[in-house]
Amino acid sequence: MKPISVAIVGATGLVGSTFIKVLEERKVPISSLTLFASHKTAGQTKLFNGELHKVRELNSESLETHFDAVLFSAGGQISKDYAYQAVASGSVVIDNSSAWRMDDHVPLIVPEVNASHLSKHQGLIANPNCSTIQSVVALAPIHQTYGLKRVVYTTYQAVSGSGYSGLNDLARAKNNESPEFYPVPIDRVVYPKIDDFLDNYVTKEEQKMINETKKILGDESISISATCVRVGIEHSHSVSIVCQTTKPFELADIIKLLKHAPSVKVYDHPLIPTVLDATGNDLVHIGRIRRDDSVENGLQIHGCQ
Ligand SMILES: NC(=O)c1ccc[n+]([C@@H]2O[C@H](COP(=O)([O-])OP(=O)(O)OC[C@H]3O[C@@H](n4cnc5c(N)ncnc54)[C@H](OP(=O)(O)O)[C@@H]3O)[C@@H](O)[C@H]2O)c1
Repeated sequence: MKPISVAIVGATGLVGSTFIKVLEERKVPISSLTLFASHKTAGQTKLFNGELHKVRELNSESLETHFDAVLFSAGGQISKDYAYQAVASGSVVIDNSSAWRMDDHVPLIVPEVNASHLSKHQGLIANPNCSTIQSVVALAPIHQTYGLKRVVYTTYQAVSGSGYSGLNDLARAKNNESPEFYPVPIDRVVYPKIDDFLDNYVTKEEQKMINETKKILGDESISISATCVRVGIEHSHSVSIVCQTTKPFELADIIKLLKHAPSVKVYDHPLIPTVLDATGNDLVHIGRIRRDDSVENGLQIHGCQ
């Protein structure tokens, strides 16, 4: 692969810092790395491939320069304001925020599931919500083989999903200090609300899982509901998936299918995957695979990533 020029918007955040780490770990050939953040952290330095890179303040001219790839991870508003400026400069944008995920012109990509849609991009590629990613990696082969009629998600999401604000609030709660980000001290707490409520009392996070799953699996007919729960742990999200397939299945065949699915590690009964297995690697850890006998063709699985 020819070395590419890369810019990261939100380079000092939890996700931006992880981008830098992963680019180095994966030995992505990079000809230049340019880092942007807000005025608050401009001037900080970040280590990449043994060299210090200065973080610049993002401004209206920053993305007039052409980069082969611009990775956005600075919140939805920054993506709305700047992503198409980068596209206009001929850069390919990969956006980690929710700003463009449901736009018809923007492919929403999980490489294990729909990498073929990448060729349809018009300069902007979106990355889904974190709990949606692990869920569709497991659901896609089941959907492909048996069809999905209904999916019910319940998530258990670590505070890292809220970036440094979440991690700092967990540390505050552990020190018996008042929260500054969550409405409650989050340590040892299960809080069944992530993001704002919509008019129907569903949260935005739950609606994202519903909409994004349908878009990635390319099937609007699946009935989906979700309950997204924040739990007072640092890293890795878990998800309970209860689903109903269109066609009947043998449980042994589902287990076989999941064992062959890319990026999936299956835990055979009675082994149980937990966030301890999931932290620090890229796999989706799946266990508790069983029938849901309350409905026809019912299946339940538990995942962590
Ligand atoms: N955390 C996750 O697991 C996760 C997963 C999926 C998607 N996301 C999405 O990724 C984005 C970032 O999340 P995060 O967890 O990394 O948050 P974070 O730790 O709070 O980091 C936010 C980053 O955005 C930058 N930023 C904020 N305002 C800016 C501005 N006006 N101009 C330029 N840069 C600005 C911050 O720079 P300063 O440090 O200078 O303020 C920081 O680098 C969000 O859209 C989030 O929804 C996060």
